[in-house]
Amino acid sequence: MTVPTLEDLGDVDGRRVLLRADFNVPLHDSEITDDLRIRAALPTIQWLLERGAIITACSHLGRPKGAPDPKYSMDPVRARLNELAPEVTLLENLRFNPGETANDPAFVQELIAGQDVYVNDAFGASHRAHASIVGPPQFLPSAAGRLLQREVEVLLPLRTDPDRPFVVILGGSKVSDKLGVIEAVGAVADTVIIGGGMCFTFLAAQGHPIGASLLEADQVEQCGRWLQPGSGINIQLPSDITALSPGGTIGDPDAGGEVRQMGQNLPDGWMGLDIGPGTAAEFTDVILDARTVLWNGPMGVFEDPRFEAGTRAVAEAMAESRAFTVVGGGDSAAAIKQFGLDAEVDHVSTGGGASLELLELGDLPGLEALRGAPNA
Ligand code: 3PG
Ligand code: MG
Repeated sequence: MTVPTLEDLGDVDGRRVLLRADFNVPLHDSEITDDLRIRAALPTIQWLLERGAIITACSHLGRPKGAPDPKYSMDPVRARLNELAPEVTLLENLRFNPGETANDPAFVQELIAGQDVYVNDAFGASHRAHASIVGPPQFLPSAAGRLLQREVEVLLPLRTDPDRPFVVILGGSKVSDKLGVIEAVGAVADTVIIGGGMCFTFLAAQGHPIGASLLEADQVEQCGRWLQPGSGINIQLPSDITALSPGGTIGDPDAGGEVRQMGQNLPDGWMGLDIGPGTAAEFTDVILDARTVLWNGPMGVFEDPRFEAGTRAVAEAMAESRAFTVVGGGDSAAAIKQFGLDAEVDHVSTGGGASLELLELGDLPGLEALRGAPNA
């Protein structure tokens, strides 16, 4: 899985570098709420600038429909980047051009016009075979930036030779988002802990009534197979649940509804929205006994303070653990940041879908493209 890195570019003094970054940052009313993805590109930017390169950066932001849309303008990103690295020019949102997602060769030519070198530091977008990811390395000497390099160096070994015990914690709402990861990494892990909305499909597969909790009916059979002894995957499910009574509203404690801890069987109409305190303690013990921990997906609806305890417990255990601790991008990265513990783990991935796909398949279109570059 070797891809060319910055050292493989040779002398970049005075050369024009097209830098594909993932500046797809969360925005609220055009204000950046978390600039991690911008700061995460700085080591690469600094490395290039120190060696005299002239950088044009590009990124997508949100999912505009192939035409300019002021809601997805790069202006807020440009303003922040200008504070951090004023030497860098930033192009407009790549997805304002339909050629980006279509991987249109004409758009690739437009992007590389006048550029000497290409650097991909957009780990979070490298699972997309889009023009800016897979196009330029066909034509220009290319390299992975430091962020992309580090993500691969941290995540790939988890598929093959993690220090044991290796514990994988999966959450989030859907089993169907995690099928490939359960297959690929679950079999390597000593224990797969499951919480979040997805745990109810597993509990249903064991025959538990799950009330009004999330259920993916078409995944029950698959979950049942994984739970069989001899499946090769050692799954640990919650033993208790924090649930909301009928009539309650997620995200609105004032709307009424009762919150109660219960076992694995939920009454009609009750909705499980977090792991219970007993489970949080059990999961904490498993995490503290591990030498490697990978966490992807919250344990409950942590945005609602009534249902944040399970996710917080996992974040705290990750922080306290002396294991090598890795947090997947997306919601779990947002959670560990919300609890102020992001600096206490070894690696917080900048990629949601990308980290899952790399763990699942062991490769990404963006990496494959770099391996095909003229200098590779
Ligand atoms: C992300 O936020 O996951 C990446 O920037 C990729 O964005 P996309 O899912 O819209 O391709
Ligand atoms: Mg995404």
